[in-house]
Amino acid sequence: MFRRQILKSIGVAGLALATGVSAACAQEVVKVGLILPMTGPSASTGRQIEAGARLWMAQNGSTVAGKKIELIIKDDTGAADQSKRLATELVVNDKVAFLGGFGLTPLALSVGPVATQAKVPAVIMAAGTSTIVASSPYFVRTSFTLPQNTAPMAQWSAANGIKTVVTLVSDYGPGLDSEKAFKAEFEAKGGKVLESLRAPLMNPEFAAFLQKAKDLKPDALFLFVPSGQGASLMKQVGERELAKSGIKIIGTGDVTDDDQLNGMGDALIGMITSHNYSAAHDSPENKAYVAAFLKANNNMRPNFMSVGGFDGMAAIYKALEKTKGDTDGTKLVEAMKGLAWVSPRGPMSIDPATRDVTQNVYVREVKKVDGQLYNVEFATIANVKGSN
Ligand code: DHB
Repeated sequence: MFRRQILKSIGVAGLALATGVSAACAQEVVKVGLILPMTGPSASTGRQIEAGARLWMAQNGSTVAGKKIELIIKDDTGAADQSKRLATELVVNDKVAFLGGFGLTPLALSVGPVATQAKVPAVIMAAGTSTIVASSPYFVRTSFTLPQNTAPMAQWSAANGIKTVVTLVSDYGPGLDSEKAFKAEFEAKGGKVLESLRAPLMNPEFAAFLQKAKDLKPDALFLFVPSGQGASLMKQVGERELAKSGIKIIGTGDVTDDDQLNGMGDALIGMITSHNYSAAHDSPENKAYVAAFLKANNNMRPNFMSVGGFDGMAAIYKALEKTKGDTDGTKLVEAMKGLAWVSPRGPMSIDPATRDVTQNVYVREVKKVDGQLYNVEFATIANVKGSN
């Protein structure tokens, strides 16, 4: 019995030594595993985030605090079971120091338990449902939340003569967040939401919902769909002639996504949205970002997802600098709390209480600038919290 115990303790010590040695050997390389939809309906999200992350590395080098950063990209095709499986593989086989990406809310939620169990920081670079960060103490967000991006649109509407609104959102986390935030803010300012319509997330057919909205004759129709669906939604809005019947079309900037906006046609000119990023954001940081991004990506225009990736890598680099290269996951999350920097989107920070993103939200109008459609910002609501 005694001998067995000694053997057992030697075994444990031996194991500790072995893992200690392998950790020391592996110390020179810090792996960052991004799980993204690179194919499927949300592929533009993956493409934009990868390009943003790679641009950060091209501009800031691949060595931080003496460690070599290695980026690993995994395609979850937009399927939550795949995101979870890939997160587990990245943690167990690749021994990543950071997880990141997560193109849709359900994909992020599926990874939370893996991050918690492995004590590996997971940087949310896309998903926008407010409750996600609270579901794991290892989540940190550099994207946005829907309540954050929606409330300014409701405030603008109430202040600009809109009395009645119908909302139409995708029927899942961020859509429900957006619907709720719009109604709360708009009705608190004296407006009335006549009806809250929800379209399915997958293969949405908007026609019946748009007809319903038209029949209700609101002053405005508020829209939210995730990145990648804006063009087909706005095509159907055009076909139903809602604007012609006097209904103002408003939404979050997910609908007038820079990835697709320029192909949506001049019918969008004048549309008002609120959002955390526009490629037309007027700052020296953004001008440099857009120029470098276009050059590195065959003239693809950066959208709000791209800055989620760019700033996600910024948070990772800054955390490693703070820990002086220590890759202990708990220390890295601590290091990310309270980080603040100037992004291409404007000033941003990681709220130390929630690990969620605090940033400016802008009200914008679609305008033609040098022959191309852009979301031109005209009002700023400063330092809006992502969640409470
Ligand atoms: C989410 C995805 C998007 O593409 C978007 O624009 C907003 C939110 C999400 O699933 O959380």
